[in-house]
Amino acid sequence: MTNRQPFFYDITLRDGNQSLKKPWNTYEKEIIFNHLTELGVQGVEVGFAAASDMDYEACVRLAGIAPSNTVISALARCVQNDILKAAEAIKEAKKRRIHTFIAMSPFNMQYVLNKSPNEVRKQAIEAVSYAKSLMGNNGEVQFSVEHFGDCHENIDFVIDSLQEIVKAGATIINLPNTVERTRPKKFVDLVEKVYNALPKDIIISVHNHNDLGMATATTVESYFAGAVQLECALNGLGERAGNTNMYEVAVALHNSGVDVPLNLSKIYELALTISDMSNVKIYEKAALIGPDALAHRSGIHQDGAIKTKDMEKGAYRPIHPSLIGRKDDEKLGFTSQSGKTAIYEIITDAGYPITLGEAQRIAPIAKETAEKIGELSTRNVIDIYHNNILNVKGAFKFIDVQKVSDNCIKIKFTYNGKEFDVDAYGNGPIDSCVKALQQTGLNVEFLNYEQKALNMGSDAIGMTIMYFKSPSGQTIISRGCDENTFMANIKAIFNGFNIIDSMK
Ligand code: KIV
Ligand code: ZN
Repeated sequence: MTNRQPFFYDITLRDGNQSLKKPWNTYEKEIIFNHLTELGVQGVEVGFAAASDMDYEACVRLAGIAPSNTVISALARCVQNDILKAAEAIKEAKKRRIHTFIAMSPFNMQYVLNKSPNEVRKQAIEAVSYAKSLMGNNGEVQFSVEHFGDCHENIDFVIDSLQEIVKAGATIINLPNTVERTRPKKFVDLVEKVYNALPKDIIISVHNHNDLGMATATTVESYFAGAVQLECALNGLGERAGNTNMYEVAVALHNSGVDVPLNLSKIYELALTISDMSNVKIYEKAALIGPDALAHRSGIHQDGAIKTKDMEKGAYRPIHPSLIGRKDDEKLGFTSQSGKTAIYEIITDAGYPITLGEAQRIAPIAKETAEKIGELSTRNVIDIYHNNILNVKGAFKFIDVQKVSDNCIKIKFTYNGKEFDVDAYGNGPIDSCVKALQQTGLNVEFLNYEQKALNMGSDAIGMTIMYFKSPSGQTIISRGCDENTFMANIKAIFNGFNIIDSMK
């Protein structure tokens, strides 16, 4: 088990780039390279110099602008021309590395390379010696066992070969899971075998593809088995299902108590930039960076999320959003699975007053709507608030009112279709109006009221908040909004009576 700081070796510009529908030009690679430097990766594979003139140029350019503490490497097959091109392309970098590779799995040696194991071993040793001769003391050589994950049957041959390869000058041994075919443990066991067999000053590296979706797990566990260099790509770009996602590995190690030398707060913005530049969309459910990664829709999750919102550890999230620079807080979406907490948060965030009791009252209405149309937008929830809190529809229908004196109002309304035209007397207009509505036989007791100014858009309007007791003894709250305070009171009374009437 390692206690060394992980070395993040970025392969976005090489493995990521080679899998793009439109590979990046030098200018685009430079933009990403600068982001990588800000993120703080310790090594960058800038390209495959022999692949194309464009890639060669990009390698030259990035090697020329690289900070002096960043390792710059270029990829080369175990052939002299590739190695020479790689060495030429990165010669301006202060810390440079040639990365050469050949497959050593029985299957690939036989069916793809058409070579015997001894031929492959010889080619690898010669390539590494040649690369070392070009680097001298001014650079290092990394050797990769392509298809290492398929080397279970011949692991002894691989280890023997690596011992020779190390003697030939490689100081970094990279172990790729070139195609992820099976469970992480089987790969990690092989990594551990190599780690135990090689001198301790040799850096063990892993490079895991994500064919079965477990590359992050494999990389994280390989680190604990001795691999210090972790080859990862931004947004998990790479051949087929991609390479190991840098963000996931960095955060998983951070959460496991490992000192991760990256500026994690850059992650989210960088992820959006890379998605834009690669034309590869971020999957809605993508860990950490997906639009849904911090969204909560079920009532239980929303409740837990709200209760722990400002805490470092959240009930239903792996990190505080700010760790990776996400400014969008935990998003609450209202679906048929959601509850009062979501209503309360959505309405409060939109700037409207609501109590949890009111949210509980209108949650079933919102759920019913969501059952029909799917997730509700903030606008949908606000409309439900307007229609069921500020303008409650029901048996009482207001028609007209006149204030005759402080103690008397003349009011016209219907109750279940029956018209009432009443001169009502009371201890002030509110009391008069309540008494008028009580003539319907609904036994509602008025308890208290308060008024506040509500800033909705450009105009400040008045909101009356009233408290009533229902015939069954339940206290209910009602609201009325109007520019005119008297009318705000009347609306709050009608809303209150309609709420209580609907509870019968
Ligand atoms: O996946 C792989 O094996 C590679 C090597 C070239 C390191 O990308
Ligand atoms: Zn790869």
